Amino acid sequence: MTTPIPLVIDTDPGIDDALAILLALASPEVDLRLVTTVHGNVELAQTTDNALRVLHLAGRADVPVAAGAAASLVHAQPERAGHVHGTAGLGGVQLPPSPAGTDPRPAVVALAELLLSSPDPVTVAAIGPLTNIALLLRVFPEAAARIGRLVVMGGSAARGGNVTAAAEFNVWADPEAAQAVLGSTLPTVLVGLDVTLPTVLDEHDIARFAAAGPIGAQAAAILQQYLEHARRSYGTTGVVVHDALALTEAIIPGTLDTVRRHVVVDTGLGAGRGQTLVDRRTVSTAPTAVEVAERVDSAAAVEFLVTRLSGLDGRPR
Ligand code: BDR
Ligand code: CA
Repeated sequence: MTTPIPLVIDTDPGIDDALAILLALASPEVDLRLVTTVHGNVELAQTTDNALRVLHLAGRADVPVAAGAAASLVHAQPERAGHVHGTAGLGGVQLPPSPAGTDPRPAVVALAELLLSSPDPVTVAAIGPLTNIALLLRVFPEAAARIGRLVVMGGSAARGGNVTAAAEFNVWADPEAAQAVLGSTLPTVLVGLDVTLPTVLDEHDIARFAAAGPIGAQAAAILQQYLEHARRSYGTTGVVVHDALALTEAIIPGTLDTVRRHVVVDTGLGAGRGQTLVDRRTVSTAPTAVEVAERVDSAAAVEFLVTRLSGLDGRPR
């Protein structure tokens, strides 16, 4: 076994964020060194508390959690996603509180210190609005330059949006930050709705890890409200766990087929705000090009997630 890749998750838990954190903890290929939190699905204080509780659920309260940005960079975006994730963000499930407190450092400081001190390249999985990563780029550019791989869940190349006709939630929640990140030279993989929407976890998949033990059962409970929302809103019998797919790509690079594309975010205040304009006419060789995930083997991705989550209880199924 090779040395695990140091990993940071920047997150706004969030149901699928919770699954993504659990997936990282279940994966020996990565070593989760830090969780940084951001506003997004719910308010920052809640995303931070949720991150602490999810780590504690998996017996990993030792992983530091540093709180980041409470609001987007330029334009306040007060709308949250409580109707999808539950008002407290974890689908109405009250996980036991963590004995660990929050790291005293602001998220960008904790992230910069980790990047500058790590002898190995660090993978950063950004699965919430990109405010913290944009701040890191601006405040600690020398630390940002040491990111080995940035895997972002966000945007959409061909599928339109999920929060407006044009915009995906994470980009829409802070388009200026997304533009700063996707327009930078960071080695970025963009995992958007093109690959997440076809990757659906159904009741049978969820039942498999629910039966594995107490951690799997809690993960399944967290998903229940999400499943009901999907049933009510889309008439589907499964759920899309966007952030877990992004983590899969962070854990196993190359899981998704990517193409280097030029990506621009619409930061205007009109109907297109938050849209990711992905130029699919050509492969880009520009240093700012982004590896856009365009194809996925959804069945394999679901199997990977279910097997790994079941493994958290020590019994892969
Ligand atoms: C993204 O938005 C959030 O609601 C999810 O946690 C995910 O990161 C999907 O558009
Ligand atoms: Ca998220």
